[in-house]
Amino acid sequence: MNKALIEVYGCQMNAAEAERMAGELERIGYEPTDSRDDADVIILHTCCVRESAEEKIYGKLGELKGLKRQRPNLILGISGCMAQKEAASLFKRAPHLDFVLGTGELTKLADMVQLIADGHKRIAATTLTDEPPPERAFPIRRGAVSAWIPIMYGCDNFCTYCIVPYVRGRERSRSPKDIIAEAEAALAEGYGELTLLGQNVNSYGKGSGGVDFADLLAAVDKLDELKRLRFMTSHPKDTSDRLIKVMAEGEHIAPHIHLPAQHGSDSILKAMNRGYTAAHYLALVKKIRAAVPRVALTTDIIVGFPGETEEDFRQTLDLVRKARFDAAYTFLYSPRSGTRAADFPNQVPEEVKKRRLAELMDAQNAVSLSVNETYLGQTAEVLVEGASKSDPAVWTGRTDTGKIVLWPHQNEKIGELAQVIVEKCQTWVLKGRLK
Ligand code: SAH
Ligand code: SF4
Ligand code: F3S
Repeated sequence: MNKALIEVYGCQMNAAEAERMAGELERIGYEPTDSRDDADVIILHTCCVRESAEEKIYGKLGELKGLKRQRPNLILGISGCMAQKEAASLFKRAPHLDFVLGTGELTKLADMVQLIADGHKRIAATTLTDEPPPERAFPIRRGAVSAWIPIMYGCDNFCTYCIVPYVRGRERSRSPKDIIAEAEAALAEGYGELTLLGQNVNSYGKGSGGVDFADLLAAVDKLDELKRLRFMTSHPKDTSDRLIKVMAEGEHIAPHIHLPAQHGSDSILKAMNRGYTAAHYLALVKKIRAAVPRVALTTDIIVGFPGETEEDFRQTLDLVRKARFDAAYTFLYSPRSGTRAADFPNQVPEEVKKRRLAELMDAQNAVSLSVNETYLGQTAEVLVEGASKSDPAVWTGRTDTGKIVLWPHQNEKIGELAQVIVEKCQTWVLKGRLK
């Protein structure tokens, strides 16, 4: 059999898509490989959410130039968000590329590879449709215990900093029937944990008048063999009381919500077009904590949005301390051409952004450590993932709250639930021993 390597960059949506792309390629005789050396096809599945993401891909394209020279039959493609954004202009910067496949054209992958193998040169397909992708994917899953299940594609929110709505198109939801069928198939394959994915899962089914996200979550929660059910990402403006109730009453729904706050200043939140204030966000957090007492809360935060003053930034620090996030993914604002904020006046100088980011990370690390310290002496139930990277005798898994736990391995098996007494708490991991 021929071999295909798909290198994945960016978010979980990309990881989920790459598994489906691998399934499409296997159908036409390409089995997955992890090595560039024995690949007949190499595809970069890309992200363009920040400039740094794109620079990284240009670096990878540079690395592949030499490979193509040595192995002229190697098929090189680029797909995903950056392929959508840059389209055929990528052939100018990387003439060794064979194809460019946008986010709306992924189901053409197999045809595309076939065309190139038959001798066609430099093809780009980057039409964005409003249609949900056809349901013909049989993903080759890469997770040890956890399966990604996309439930919706695209985004209609147009946060003023964000390129995603432009490169992924309008919001489209998959049918509940297709989602349940895929979830059942993943469970039958032995994946005990499912993660429902979308840019804004809370608006699943919007406008359909049928099943909404709370209904869908409750339905998936009832499936046999399910150990844990996760979902991301939630938008604060669309997080409903019914969803909170379903989380609270769920049997296998993990007590974790990824709820990007983005900022702590009302004027910046308004300029970002987020649709809530800091007070509204904190009230929502309070409501969730009251309903789901063990809940872990994670977030995304941007520093250095245009016009951000020192006082605005202080309000982000204040929010981080009040919300007590388990973890925050923190980003330097990166202007993306075509988005509204890229043209806003008062762009914040790079050195100011960097200083603020460092201060924010210090503040959040202190909060993360103090949240993790509440696990000391507790018994944590972990879903066993296997040996850790650094030491084969030390195994790793996660709690339902998403904490990474390390312990000396005995007889536990991958995919089982194990009980670990927590003996040491750090900012990013908990360490302990089996109960
Ligand atoms: N749909 C999700 C994720 C979008 S991208 C959501 O709404 O949260 C993931 C994160 O990247 C965003 O939450 C945001 O914090 C960050 N991000 C998006 N555009 C950015 C930009 N131009 N500069 C810096 N960070 C950005
Ligand atoms: Fe981007 Fe906002 Fe949509 Fe998230 S909700 S993908 S941040 S536009
Ligand atoms: Fe990046 Fe596209 Fe995801 S821009 S963050 S890979 S939706």
